[in-house]
Amino acid sequence: MQNSRIAVFASGQGSNFAALVAAQQAGKLGAGRIELLVSDKPEAPVAQRAEEAGVPALLLRPKDFASRELYEAEIVAELQRREIGLVVLAGYMRLISPVLLEPYTGRIINIHPSLLPAFPGKDAIGQALEYGVKLTGVTVHFVDGGMDTGPVIAQRSVAVEAVDTAETLAARIHHVEYGLYPEVVAAFAAGKVELDGRQVRIRD
Ligand code: GRF
Repeated sequence: MQNSRIAVFASGQGSNFAALVAAQQAGKLGAGRIELLVSDKPEAPVAQRAEEAGVPALLLRPKDFASRELYEAEIVAELQRREIGLVVLAGYMRLISPVLLEPYTGRIINIHPSLLPAFPGKDAIGQALEYGVKLTGVTVHFVDGGMDTGPVIAQRSVAVEAVDTAETLAARIHHVEYGLYPEVVAAFAAGKVELDGRQVRIRD
């Protein structure tokens, strides 16, 4: 497996997918190459974005499979065929089972719109507004069997303003995501991300 061969998994808009593609085109992913988009929603806008960018796509409906394990086994076969070494979850709205986790331990990362461990799960931006925090942000972390529980790789904060709505706060958070995710992906592709238990170090 090569760290530089990347598959992005997404279920929705795909604005992070687009930011990663743009970063690659701008030479900001280092050795990183986006080789594949995987989506569980063939009709999602991200599939269109992949087509426009010329990125091959594996579009599968989980309900077409007898089990989650069989669905993921088909994905793993394609990842291995393409020698993918890094799985980048970008708005992929499904938990990952051991079928994918085991062969890719330490090689699956996710981006989450809060400073974990605060506000895991769905609607992290709404949760932060509801709670009334003054500071939230973005976390990139390794994926384990839990919901947003894996070791933290990088975090960046975003201030919550009194006038913020879910839309205005989301816009600033997304802007931060588009900068942070490509940086982490580039570091991983360069072999600079070291995982030791829950501790993650990015070498210079
Ligand atoms: C992002 O906010 C990301 O943090 C979360 O899902 C959202 C995906 O948005 N995991 P997009 O599909 O990349 O536009």
